[in-house]
Amino acid sequence: MAIKVCDEKKIFQINTPNTTYLMGVVKDKYLGHMYYGPRMEDCDGLYLLRAPQGEKADHFLYKKNKIGFMDSFSFEYPAWGTGDFRDTCLKVRDERGYDTCELAYEGYELMDDKPALTGMPATFAGKEPAGAAQTLTIILRDRLIGLKILLRYSTFEDSDAIIRSVVAVNEGTQKLYLEKILSACLDMDDENFDLITLHGCWGRERHTAVRRVSIGKHIVSSLRGESSHQVQPFMALTTNGTNQKSGDVYAMNFVYSGNFIAETELDHQDGVRMSLGLHPDTFEWVLDPGASFETPEAVVVYSDKGLGQMTRTFHNLYKNHLIRSKYLHSKRPILVNNWEATYFNFDTEKLVAIAEEAKKLGIEMLVLDDGWFGKRDNDESGLGDWQVNEEKIKGGMKSLAERINGVGLKFGLWFEPEMVSPDSDLFRAHPDWAIQVEGREPSMGRHQYVLDLTRQEVVDYVYESVAAVLRSANIEYVKWDMNRSLTDLGSLALDREHMGEFSHRYVLGLYQMQERLLNDFPDLLLENCSSGGARFDAGMLYYSPQIWTSDDMDPIERLSIQEGTAMLYPLSSMGAHICVCPNHSVGRNTPMETRAHVALAGTFGYELDLTKLSEEDKEKAVVFNKEYHKYNDVVREGDYYRIASYQENNMYDCWQVVSPDKSESLVTYVQVRFETMRKSRRLRLEGLEPGAIYQLEGTEQTFSGEMLMNAGYLQPMLHGDYNSILLHFVKKN
Ligand code: DGJ
Repeated sequence: MAIKVCDEKKIFQINTPNTTYLMGVVKDKYLGHMYYGPRMEDCDGLYLLRAPQGEKADHFLYKKNKIGFMDSFSFEYPAWGTGDFRDTCLKVRDERGYDTCELAYEGYELMDDKPALTGMPATFAGKEPAGAAQTLTIILRDRLIGLKILLRYSTFEDSDAIIRSVVAVNEGTQKLYLEKILSACLDMDDENFDLITLHGCWGRERHTAVRRVSIGKHIVSSLRGESSHQVQPFMALTTNGTNQKSGDVYAMNFVYSGNFIAETELDHQDGVRMSLGLHPDTFEWVLDPGASFETPEAVVVYSDKGLGQMTRTFHNLYKNHLIRSKYLHSKRPILVNNWEATYFNFDTEKLVAIAEEAKKLGIEMLVLDDGWFGKRDNDESGLGDWQVNEEKIKGGMKSLAERINGVGLKFGLWFEPEMVSPDSDLFRAHPDWAIQVEGREPSMGRHQYVLDLTRQEVVDYVYESVAAVLRSANIEYVKWDMNRSLTDLGSLALDREHMGEFSHRYVLGLYQMQERLLNDFPDLLLENCSSGGARFDAGMLYYSPQIWTSDDMDPIERLSIQEGTAMLYPLSSMGAHICVCPNHSVGRNTPMETRAHVALAGTFGYELDLTKLSEEDKEKAVVFNKEYHKYNDVVREGDYYRIASYQENNMYDCWQVVSPDKSESLVTYVQVRFETMRKSRRLRLEGLEPGAIYQLEGTEQTFSGEMLMNAGYLQPMLHGDYNSILLHFVKKN
């Protein structure tokens, strides 16, 4: 059993294969966080809570200085109002307007499973025994207002992650208003922590940022209605000197695609509180008597072996317990997407010409991007009118799909279902369906408004118009895009009391649409996208096994983007394509090999006009496509190791994947800058079998696993900047 409860002492011990998480109750009332770290069998850690028992405690807790206790105790789930002045997780207002809450321990439940969440993405148990799940639910209560809080902790036999979520149940007689309800919190002593977060913007998503945790609050958050380009719903605290292989890491990642807040606070007593959940600035939820509210899940990970171990814990969790697509373990078709090839300027003949060229090169699917519907010759009109534009696509979608299939390629299609252009038939018919505040003209982004997915009739209409297109032709892949943030948060259909629920309801509407899509089209390969990678999060991975990582396909910029993305998410989920040169986003020229080697770390495809490729580049494309088929199994299923980071060293980048049975390993080395006089670079590999002999493919060279891991491989300098090489090591014995 992974979860043990000592009833007598009221201690809860959650063990994963390599970690232990301890909570305990003091004074029969307060649930405290005791320990999170390397696995222990001993759970006797109540002393860690520094809460005196007996006489002394009564005096301390209830008489003269309750505030002193409340403001320093390591709360497992801190609530606002009775003396804890740090960032708290829960704030509830009652009908009278009071917003204090005091949670007392009431009991617990244990189950040998993992509950799903209603209408939201959630991790799930896998194949037993390795994937078996257990869930501990701790029950807390505020007696005055009748609020019951359930803290849920789930574990899987094969994972070191702990999955947390919270349920609030109104068991009182008055209405309650949830103003803040976070999903997870960790109260710890400071250990000179550094804080790692992932930041960016359009075309520059998820660059790694490290800062020292100093006194006060460190907040990263999104209020954009999506997880965002700017910041990832993730936070990691690391002890000094942590690197890929060593150091303590405490990390949280949110399984959610909307507004969030991740906070770390170092207080005046050297306590560190880390928490993650729905952003309270755009959240309120009305709890009628008898009603309940469930938060999204937070994934909590501890690693005592540095960031590399943390990364592999997230990857394995997401592969084994979150991404449910039937395509998770399959090679995805090599695709060519027409966006940067044609933008809005295409017709059937142009698409068929690209498809014919693609077929010759070994490409397997054509994806038709933006511009095939309504009146859509630029980005100023047409969104919402999901009827094929027969001026461009003569004979309609069925006929186009048949032509592409006739060439021997699969056919995929782009949609942006959440949006509406003011210049569209949909908006003219239903101007009230756009998100808006009565009397105020909503702000536009990319010339478009956002549809009000809090309204069921809007969800139904949009879903049906997308589904009708999918039913009309052989469409095997959908790219679901979303190209602006949410503003003017309001619905003409919500009353005053429920308007604060708008942002979360929007995300629930989105999830409902994607759920329906997968149920109605079980064979569909779905790729989420948001103006590049603005919604690359664990929530979306529940629905789609791959997400478009960034609009910037320049391989040098992609090194940082893909490093940050792969810190949390499996390589098999990263949409990555070969672009044209000079690159449309940054204008850089790079060798085609480097563009290909970087894209091979993801789902792989092309986003350029194949009909304009030189003969030499076409020959190269044939080679890359063969390499994709050869290496994708190990890239997709293997363990990922970050060997060197261009973000850190400003010179070169290197990552490695090792097959689960350690029989092969693919190393990608990208030399961004050439250095004169340097003899070679030493690449210390990881994850190999120490006693095994590996041959470097294409050479006679052999190495023992231990030599490659301890002494390293010497990579000769490649002449020139922006060059790269793939090194394939294959076990001989
Ligand atoms: C943003 C996406 O990231 C691009 O790949 C492309 O699909 C455009 N939208 C189309 O408008």
